[in-house]
Amino acid sequence: MSEEVKILAIESSCDETAASVVSNGRTVLSNVISSQIALHTLYGGVVPEIASRKHIERINQVIEEALKQANTKLEEIDAIAVTYGPGLVGALLVGVAEAKALAYGAGKPLVGVHHIEGHICANYIENPELEPPFMCLVISGGHTHLVNVVAYGKYEILGRTRDDAAGEAFDKVARAIGLGYPGGPKIEAKAKEGDAFAIPFPRAKVADGPYDFSFSGLKSAVLNYINGCQMKGEVYSEADIAASFQQAVSDVLVEHAMRAVEEHGVNKFAIAGGVASNQTLRRALEEACKERGIAFYHPSPIFCTDNAAMIGVAGYYEYMAGVRSDWELNAIPNLKLGER
Ligand code: KG4
Ligand code: ZN
Repeated sequence: MSEEVKILAIESSCDETAASVVSNGRTVLSNVISSQIALHTLYGGVVPEIASRKHIERINQVIEEALKQANTKLEEIDAIAVTYGPGLVGALLVGVAEAKALAYGAGKPLVGVHHIEGHICANYIENPELEPPFMCLVISGGHTHLVNVVAYGKYEILGRTRDDAAGEAFDKVARAIGLGYPGGPKIEAKAKEGDAFAIPFPRAKVADGPYDFSFSGLKSAVLNYINGCQMKGEVYSEADIAASFQQAVSDVLVEHAMRAVEEHGVNKFAIAGGVASNQTLRRALEEACKERGIAFYHPSPIFCTDNAAMIGVAGYYEYMAGVRSDWELNAIPNLKLGER
């Protein structure tokens, strides 16, 4: 009989202070998230200084709660996993310092985890049958990556955004039409009342990167459209803008993702990151996969946006592969996927 391996995971790369206990890499025993969204909404986006300060205030409580909900004592934990990049340096540092202190004090191994690897691994939580190789589209507020997951912990980045991330485009367009922060869920809600084909926003291609993305032109097209209407004294429909913008993002993501799937001959496709909770996009990808006979995977919304359970899953596979971080572990704000 194999022994249970329990990971305590900590995530503080942006505006969520989160901790989780994960058993054997697939079973989430607790998933505590203290969101700062309401606080940052006042400023229209994440204020890094405020984020770090709030992480410091909340992290101990969040960890205690995660252990309590998992009915687990720190002594029963096998390793402590923590996000050490990419993200906001001050925010990351809070989690890294906390994880080091806990691991040192309790004599537990420490495993530094890449935030994007965590997002990808979120798919393992509710899909016990999912194993590499598969293709994964990671769409978050800071990243848009098309990743070939070759094996556990082995990633080949096929494409990435050349400018704005998909979530960033949602946030910027939401601000332009006065919906506020965070833009993704607000655009999605507004789009329900609008016509997705009312405004022909561009579907950008990157000439020398067939799998790369560019969203800044789309964002400018939305701003130009709004300015044009205002100059002509015309009333514009926020709902049509939201729906047409969302459709343009969705079309580009589906096209690139399906090309990657077909050209690499994989039969499994997954999505990850905050934008992956968008239902219009999810339905479009699901449909495209179905047409091609490809299995489609997605995490529940709670595991799409930032959480520590996904870090616990990624941390488990790194731990089992023998990865250990030392006391020099530091926050790396621009950490690349696949680097240590
Ligand atoms: O993965 P995440 O929580 O944080 C990062 O690692 O960046 O992603 C946050 C991003 C934000 O840009 C937010 O607007 C976007 O995900 N997002 C959405 C939705 N929910 C969150 N975008 C589109 N539709 C949604 N329903
Ligand atoms: Zn994230």
